[in-house]
Amino acid sequence: MDFQTAAALLFFVLPAYVANAVPVLLGGGAPMDAGRNFADGRRVFGDGKTVRGFFAGVFGGVVAGGALSAYVLLPFFADQRAQFAALALMGIGTMVGDALGSFLKRRLGVEPGKPFILDQLMFLVVALAFAYPFVSAQVYDPLALLFLFIATYVLHVGSNWMANRLGWKKVPW
Ligand code: CTP
Ligand code: MG
Repeated sequence: MDFQTAAALLFFVLPAYVANAVPVLLGGGAPMDAGRNFADGRRVFGDGKTVRGFFAGVFGGVVAGGALSAYVLLPFFADQRAQFAALALMGIGTMVGDALGSFLKRRLGVEPGKPFILDQLMFLVVALAFAYPFVSAQVYDPLALLFLFIATYVLHVGSNWMANRLGWKKVPW
């Protein structure tokens, strides 16, 4: 993969990264599951998934997608409109994926805030699935996906460590 494609792929997932990061700063308040338990007696999502965080994340992702689409057209899209549609859907998919990740963590008995492999990648899987109808198949090429997953894993671990050092996040993951 050449440098240009790698850079374009990172720009493409940027709105998902923004959506994933915003709730750490703007989240809080009432939990999405309203404190309710699932059939297994554990919380549906837990206190780490709040309504405000969800919408702040979606909003952040859509704004990031809009800003990016206003200035550049990435090589994976037919036109600016398809790009904006895909990037906005990625913002929504990110937050749905993030909640789905927490749902699975609770089912497996992992406490909110405890680290889990899905933390780094679940949001990306769902974001990519949501954007699929508007994106060229180039992005879903095995090599491109491998690059995106490795880059996202590394960036997620690095940025969470940094957010912890800056006092934005209680835990370094
Ligand atoms: N957050 C939020 N609403 C969301 C997602 C995140 O308010 N929908 C905020 C919460 O303050 C949360 C923090 O961002 O504690 C970090 O998010 P994340 O790591 O995804 O949640 P965890 O607290 O680790 O909980 P879980 O184990 O369920 O992932
Ligand atoms: Mg966490």
